[in-house]
Amino acid sequence: MSLAVIILAAGKGVRMNSELPKVLHPILKKPMLRYVLDAARDMEPERIVLVLGHDSELVKEAVSDCPVDTVIQEPQLGTGHAVLCCEDAFRDFSGDILILSGDVPATGVSTLGEFMDSHVKNSADVSFISTLVEDPSGYGRVLRNAEGEVLRIVEDKDATADEKKEKEINAGIYCVNSSFLWESLDGLDTENNQGEYYLPGIVNLCVSRKRGLQAFALSNPKEVSGVNSREQLGEAEKTIRLAINRRHMENGVTIVDPETAYISDSVSIGKDTTVYPNTYIYGETRIGENCRVGPSVYVEDSQIGDNVEIRFSSYLTECEVEDGVVMGPFCHLRPEARIKSGAKIGNFVEIKKSNIGVGSKVPHLSYVGDADIGAGVNIGAGTITCNYDGVNKHRTVVEDGAFIGSDTMLVAPIKVGKGATTAAGSTVTKDVSPGALAIERAGQKEITGWAERKRVKKGKS
Ligand code: UD1
Ligand code: CA
Repeated sequence: MSLAVIILAAGKGVRMNSELPKVLHPILKKPMLRYVLDAARDMEPERIVLVLGHDSELVKEAVSDCPVDTVIQEPQLGTGHAVLCCEDAFRDFSGDILILSGDVPATGVSTLGEFMDSHVKNSADVSFISTLVEDPSGYGRVLRNAEGEVLRIVEDKDATADEKKEKEINAGIYCVNSSFLWESLDGLDTENNQGEYYLPGIVNLCVSRKRGLQAFALSNPKEVSGVNSREQLGEAEKTIRLAINRRHMENGVTIVDPETAYISDSVSIGKDTTVYPNTYIYGETRIGENCRVGPSVYVEDSQIGDNVEIRFSSYLTECEVEDGVVMGPFCHLRPEARIKSGAKIGNFVEIKKSNIGVGSKVPHLSYVGDADIGAGVNIGAGTITCNYDGVNKHRTVVEDGAFIGSDTMLVAPIKVGKGATTAAGSTVTKDVSPGALAIERAGQKEITGWAERKRVKKGKS
């Protein structure tokens, strides 16, 4: 049986009270809609059609790298109307159509898989996911007869006080045989409180036309919670986050406090790595095995090797860190920082667009920008690469085994040769030959007896 997916995302999301389209609100730095889209793609459907309306250009752009078709629903006359707008796009399609909502982002792929399997096994015309929730307000309620058979779905806004008490809700996820879908959508009307074409109406028509209906009961309601408000956005984030953390723990990662670990679903983490509390790992980040990350560390779009230690309050973006590096607390690795194996980056060190060679050390209070630091180099405390002359950026080269004294100003462009030394406090403006010492200091004067004379003078006045 062929499978296609429709994702509804034309609504404005008024209750978010936002300038940003609802489905683009980020969860762990990824737009909500992308979760739904990724789950849909994992189902390997023949095609995916995205229904857009409000801010359609913005939403389209956010998914421009995905192979999806878009249909514009204008005006938005309800969820049933949204699906009806896809009819033309499905003229040549016959099979099952899975309908998802762009604002229900936490549904696991395995759940969707089980749902689809059960739809096929039961040869249903319409299947929908239902679940029991503590607080059903806002959702469509599933009403059943004394035998437990589904009678219909009633929207919150149309429900009587008694119906509102029902805790079984419609999750807004459906699988419908394509011929029944188009046939039943034609039967929808707008005789309801919102004057809209309700998609759940196809469930009601399935009952009244005595076709095969399946309510697929899901035990974990959090997987299908809809995001209509900022509060629900927070809840969905938590559900997604804890599921991601659980997956890492199953893979052999220790997460000391899963409640305070924020890890995007695109991140990979090796075995026996420990993630300490209040840590953020986002984007296309790969962390190797046996690392210690955190507490309170931020890593985004970075490649981290094995046996790396990233200590308290370090902030890393778009950088590469090889095996065995130790860094922090309080270090800042900016884009294109490349730290070779065994190097040590200490506290209050900022590194940008620079290579730090194998086993080199930048232990304290330094800025290294636009620099190539060789292997076995020691960069003394307070060293600064003066890379910017107010107009252009220039590079600093420090060759293998050099020793940069504390508080050296390396005025770029400049090269410090192999094994050379710069004296503490020097402002180095010219290249230093291999093996040489560069010293740039005013001679030290000594004024003998100064302190005693000062004391006597004070006593007199
Ligand atoms: C909907 C269901 C409700 C279910 C709930 C589950 C209807 C009428 N009600 O309610 O039974 O319990 O989801 O979360 O379907 N959309 C369009 N075009 C429209 C209207 C909506 O594309 O004209 C999209 C929205 O962008 C959203 C999705 O459809 O992604 C659901 O719409 P929403 O208004 O959030 O429906 P709910 O009130 O949550
Ligand atoms: Ca909704």
